[in-house]
Amino acid sequence: MADKRLVVCVNERYGGQKSCAGAGSRELIKLLQQRLAETGADIPLVEQVCLGRCEEGIAMRIAPGGAFFTEVSANDIDAIVSALLAFEPAAKA
Ligand code: FES
Repeated sequence: MADKRLVVCVNERYGGQKSCAGAGSRELIKLLQQRLAETGADIPLVEQVCLGRCEEGIAMRIAPGGAFFTEVSANDIDAIVSALLAFEPAAKA
């Protein structure tokens, strides 16, 4: 079974173009790490430079093959952690 993880966009753009790190994704990673530590779950957070949903950022997704989250704020962290805990990756064929 593939290991599940949460992939978070940390792309940062300068010059006024929207980007997830520019909107605070690194701060959300700290919150996510805290919440995950509280649960005792050992699920990695993986930083990725752009998930291709820049206009809808902050963007993150559960991998492999899990839910995509956009316009994420601190208010969404509990729901995302719950989804991450409940997610079961499909077994490889
Ligand atoms: S900048 Fe975050 S999805 Fe592209």
